[in-house]
Amino acid sequence: LARASTVTSRSERGACMSVTVVVGTQWGDEGKAKVIDLLAASHTIVARYQGGHNAGHTVVIGDQKYALQLTPSGVFYDTVTPVIGNGVVVDLPTLFKEIDSLESRGISTARLKVSSLAHLIFPWHQAIDAALEAARGDSKIGTTLKGIGPAYVDKVKRAGIRVGEVLNITSFEAKVRERAVAARREVSDIGGDTFDIDQVVSDFVAYAQRLAPYVADTVNLLHDARERGEHILLEGAQATFLDVDHGTYPYVTSSNPIAGGAAVGTGLGPRHIDRVVGIAKAYTTRVGMGPFPSELTDDLGDKLVDIGREFGTVTGRRRRTGWLDTVMLRHAMRVNSLTEIALTKLDVLDTFEEVKVCVAYKINGEIVRNYPDTVERLAQVEPVYETLAGWMSSTEGITEFSQLPRTAQDLVKIVERETGIPVSMVGTGPARDSMVVR
Ligand code: GDP
Ligand code: IMO
Ligand code: MG
Repeated sequence: LARASTVTSRSERGACMSVTVVVGTQWGDEGKAKVIDLLAASHTIVARYQGGHNAGHTVVIGDQKYALQLTPSGVFYDTVTPVIGNGVVVDLPTLFKEIDSLESRGISTARLKVSSLAHLIFPWHQAIDAALEAARGDSKIGTTLKGIGPAYVDKVKRAGIRVGEVLNITSFEAKVRERAVAARREVSDIGGDTFDIDQVVSDFVAYAQRLAPYVADTVNLLHDARERGEHILLEGAQATFLDVDHGTYPYVTSSNPIAGGAAVGTGLGPRHIDRVVGIAKAYTTRVGMGPFPSELTDDLGDKLVDIGREFGTVTGRRRRTGWLDTVMLRHAMRVNSLTEIALTKLDVLDTFEEVKVCVAYKINGEIVRNYPDTVERLAQVEPVYETLAGWMSSTEGITEFSQLPRTAQDLVKIVERETGIPVSMVGTGPARDSMVVR
């Protein structure tokens, strides 16, 4: 905890209030939750701003490991109010399962607030997600099948049901029934699994009653806290290259994980954001389909999976792995206005004889430094690598930059050189305190 407070106090340099966004710079699972858990010690609010239970955020505290899908990663501090912001799509069965699991492990969720403006996920969204994926055949996206895309479609179509509506149970029940009838028709039209309308309605009336005490006007809650001088942390799910606008479309999620999404998804204004921490793994992983220039499909890729334990928290799928790609990080720096990078999982590279970093792309023999704007162009790129001799010694648990092996320091410096921003943290293990803070 002492270390965690140092992280924030050093970077805030005496500011009386601050809003910090934590955002993924690759394709997810960069270790966002660990950094949020570390920073949360000196913040009073941690708010999720987009996505839903497609996220799997792992926090390791002592010998305990927690995998969170919806609850903000600040929940482990009794000084923090965890907030599910308006930009999130909320699956109530998952939320309550998570609350029960945390409570059974002695973690209080009583302070949790859920935005009245957030949208709800219903079973038909999952049925539609599955049916659409099946219909896509070989060109499937590889979604988490959690109904995220279809729930956002209903939001944009202005056909969604929002969290605040649970406060009037009679109209909520009528609305769920009306939507369920229409959705069942849609689901059967596209060959999806059908569902029992009465069962869904009665389940959701019970969920609604349980949700009511958590419902809040989180937009004003966040502004009031900020104006009182409190420090707020905004937790991104997914990542820059899964962003529906800036990612590798159509192999993306249906929300805006980039830092701009934090304003949309919480109601804080863009000028209220003071600091944007981009989380980058010291190599790259991706779950699901889509182009991946620095992918390793050989033994080295398997080694990254084994040592980095690269299996999805939510779906258990094996993650695709490859070398670090600074063309991506430079683009992430631009679209998120990153102020710094936290480079995680450096220790996973400890036993690699060579460590490569992609620093540019070649398309038809020509060097390209900007990230291509279509997946078709991205599929044509050939990565240009800088190769470092592996350090071949353990970095696990190191907390001082000067203690890192020379070539490990060189890797950090390449990231700084290519992005033009500082690497303020370096991850050296899953545990809360396995982190170099500079
Ligand atoms: P998130 O979705 O970005 O929060 O990341 P995940 O929790 O899905 O995946 C990151 C995984 O790496 C988790 O199992 C973490 O416990 C683990 N992790 C985080 N930082 C480090 C690190 O510096 N070293 C190692 N070895 N593991 C880490
Ligand atoms: P965190 O927050 C990694 C991927 C899915 C799929 C695509 C679309 O833990 O980093 P969706 O179900 O969102 O419609 O799937 O996005 N995906 C993730 N990959 N980490 C995540 O979250 C992800 N959330 C979604 O694998 O390729
Ligand atoms: Mg994850």
